Amino acid sequence: MKTEIYEVEPGDYNLQDYDEHYKNFDWKEVEKAFSWHETGKVNMGYECIDRHVDSGRGDKVALYYKDAERNESYTFEEMKRNSNKAANVLKNTTDVAKGDRLFIFMPRSPELYFVLLGALKIGAIVGPLFEAFMEKAVKDRLENSEASVIVTTNSLVGRIPVDELPNLKHIVIVDDEVADQHIDFNKAFKEAADTFDIEWLDKEDGLILHYTSGSTGQPKGVLHVQYAMVQHYISGQYVLDLTEDDIYWCTADPGWVTGTSYGIFAPWLNGATNVIAGGRFSPEGWYSTIEEFKVTVWYSAPTAFRMLMGAGDELSKNYDLSSLRHVLSVGEPLNPEVIKWGYKVFGKRIHDTWWMTETGAHMIVNYPSMDIKSGSMGKPIPGVEAAIVDNDGNVLPPNRMGNLALKEGWPSMMRDVWNNRPKYESYFLPGGWYISGDSAYMDEDGYFWFQGRVDDVIMTAGERVGPFEVESKLVEHPAVAEAGVIGKPDPVRGEIIKAFIALREGFAATDELKEEIRVFVKNGLAAHAAPREIEFKDKLPKTRSGKIMRRVLKAWELDLPTGDLSTLED
Ligand code: WTA
Repeated sequence: MKTEIYEVEPGDYNLQDYDEHYKNFDWKEVEKAFSWHETGKVNMGYECIDRHVDSGRGDKVALYYKDAERNESYTFEEMKRNSNKAANVLKNTTDVAKGDRLFIFMPRSPELYFVLLGALKIGAIVGPLFEAFMEKAVKDRLENSEASVIVTTNSLVGRIPVDELPNLKHIVIVDDEVADQHIDFNKAFKEAADTFDIEWLDKEDGLILHYTSGSTGQPKGVLHVQYAMVQHYISGQYVLDLTEDDIYWCTADPGWVTGTSYGIFAPWLNGATNVIAGGRFSPEGWYSTIEEFKVTVWYSAPTAFRMLMGAGDELSKNYDLSSLRHVLSVGEPLNPEVIKWGYKVFGKRIHDTWWMTETGAHMIVNYPSMDIKSGSMGKPIPGVEAAIVDNDGNVLPPNRMGNLALKEGWPSMMRDVWNNRPKYESYFLPGGWYISGDSAYMDEDGYFWFQGRVDDVIMTAGERVGPFEVESKLVEHPAVAEAGVIGKPDPVRGEIIKAFIALREGFAATDELKEEIRVFVKNGLAAHAAPREIEFKDKLPKTRSGKIMRRVLKAWELDLPTGDLSTLED
């Protein structure tokens, strides 16, 4: 198929010449935007919020928050005071201090953002947890990080297995009625002082811990540090094209990296007005959010665009979407049809961006001032060197498929995998190449084209799910002897989770059992991690060492040749 090219539309953007930028870029120059460039003392909470108050922009709206019950706005001045209050609550009611891990496990609300910023002001390392996580997922993350504090709500607190978490000392509840053994956030918040002595940190001190999945083992705690802000800030400016006048909406939940790097840090570091919409996805709700807040820059994901597309173009005509000037996408491959649809419905080119939890911020993007080659992720941002390398770290020429790799040394690179240095080190090949786990090729113009994951990680509706975590949960079910999990291509969600299961002796392969197993994963791990499809098999393909060969399961599913089976058990 011939690639469609969408040319630059100069009127829309604060035009920034990519080639010029790329040639003359220096991270050290970007640092000069911040006072810590001179003092050496930094705090993300300050840089996102207080800095704008100090520069006389305290009256500007920082946050529009909306869900089914609430519709509120907060200026930078109010965000400063509320985050100070939250910091005081946390400091006075728990003993959380610099470097401690504090988890936030609650649905989106203004308080979530006050707590997150307040925790940062204390110097704690924040661990955001997606609200859909159930007991096993919550436990694994709190246990691995040795978190001492969790902030949550009444409806979620039951999923925290307190007795099994010796390091967890305080449970803070943000809700109306709070049981005596927990800390009542709202009550303490009302009484808290609205000034706070910020804990000044070093550039390399911890900021945030995002757990994410690989193909083997438990989820990994990806640690980012304060210095990442340099990249959040400049990519907010160059890629999201944000100015202080923008009304920006990122649809991601802060439980995922997009919801923090680009749902909190990038917009607020740039002084933009941030729209946060809570609640579930609905096409009507989403279009009306754009209309109501006059969103100018919108960052979302292919699955969401495909769901809007599925709701029909007629629906979009009921809303005034003319405020939009820049639309971006992340998380999964952005199909050319979606770009075409977006162009028709919004009159805008959807700009794809590629990066991952580990990279902390944008890596490969369609710059505003770049022609879009429909289906390509674009080019590396200034300050980042990307290449396609073979398994030994040799750079391959254009149009050859291989590992998508990045040269070590960008500011928002993860600094560690929590409690697992060997895992961190396993990401790198000789020559300083960070290996992403994605395969891709680069064309002769330097545009990168995503081809797939090298490993078995599943991307379902933009969420990254590790098959091992799902398989571990599945085998806890009394009927399941063995389980292997793969991503099955799906027109809307990118992939869905499919589980192949061998049953234990004495269990009948019925549809009821399938449903029971599905619900078991949903209630024990997370709704988005529950297999949408289950297929029973007498036996699963395994290596002689007993590892389930997902590659063979995938080949079965897709009717592909199974490849080399020499390591198969029998
Ligand atoms: C995939 C999300 C194709 C990729 C920010 C990567 C993409 C994984 C794109 C990281 C894109 C992300 N096109 N695939 N534009 N962006 N991915 O850690 O496989 O949740 O390795 O970070 O998502 O997922 P994560």
